[in-house]
Amino acid sequence: MSAALPDGPLLDLPADYRTPDAFENGLFTATHRLAETGLFTEENVLRMLETHPRDLANVSRMGHDPTVLEWSEGLTEGLSPEDVLAALKKGRLWLNIRKVLDHQPEAAAAINRLYDDLEAACPGFTATRRSANVLVSSPGAMVYYHIDVPQNILWHVSGEKRVWAYPQRLADTPRDELEAIVAVKKAEDAGYHPEWDDAAFAVDLKPGEWITWPQHTPHRVQNTVGLNISVSTEHYSPRAFRYVRAHRANRMLRDRFGLSLSSTKTSGLGYQAKAAAYLAGRAVQEYVTKKRGLYHYPKTFRVDPKAPHATVELNGGPTPAAFLPRAAAEPKAESAAEPERAREPELALA
Ligand SMILES: [Fe+2]
Repeated sequence: MSAALPDGPLLDLPADYRTPDAFENGLFTATHRLAETGLFTEENVLRMLETHPRDLANVSRMGHDPTVLEWSEGLTEGLSPEDVLAALKKGRLWLNIRKVLDHQPEAAAAINRLYDDLEAACPGFTATRRSANVLVSSPGAMVYYHIDVPQNILWHVSGEKRVWAYPQRLADTPRDELEAIVAVKKAEDAGYHPEWDDAAFAVDLKPGEWITWPQHTPHRVQNTVGLNISVSTEHYSPRAFRYVRAHRANRMLRDRFGLSLSSTKTSGLGYQAKAAAYLAGRAVQEYVTKKRGLYHYPKTFRVDPKAPHATVELNGGPTPAAFLPRAAAEPKAESAAEPERAREPELALA
């Protein structure tokens, strides 16, 4: 079915997390052996891009300020895989190779082995509705603060990145907001305030490490060293699926019937609750099958490895300041370089 995978478990699950309860509520890093498969190298990413449907390989760009969401998508039509990789190395871009389990059988075998090894190491845990993306991102690229609906795991393979997870925000996020996100009525990107970092779990993720957190924990990512290659996987345990269904049912009961969660417990609304649960289950399915289609980030640029920042504006205009290298975007900073650089995450962390 695929190139031979290394013998033995492809991951380490620390002893403290070997029950479903501990694992699914855990926020921790551990090690994996994906590099030994040779499947997630630059060379193999090029091979993946040769066969992967191009509309499932999105290139995005982002601004520099983690509090201001400036995320847009680019076109790569006509570019070879080598051109795309050259642009990733030159610019500040994020390539998301999606639905890897459906289109890359060798990578899929390795990723399913990871999940099978997880299930074996954690008796009682099952990961269903698995999906996986391969992420290739520029030095200095970032992903804004956001919440994912399924449970997720980031398996880091090369380069280095800082990951912040905000368990306190999960506890504090208003129920309405969380339900809206989980019900896919709102983009996952949620407001972020830098002072939250003080209480965040922050880790510099090195090659060969993986990180996971409890479902719906807000998180953000900043590349700190080199081109980054990671595998991002999502799954639902039976508990996670019920959790999402409960959020959606609660919201539907309130939106459609004006009922609060507590009233569902006391007023015998069996039929409505069943209907809501049924529809909520369908919504989960829609999320799984159409996830990216729900977000309409604008397409504003064309990827071009020969262009100064590896991008060309579709409107023919100059590159907006938000997407220029920081020094070019803010020339004033040069005369006061030290204070400005001290505040700049990608420089401070490099
Ligand atoms: Fe995420």
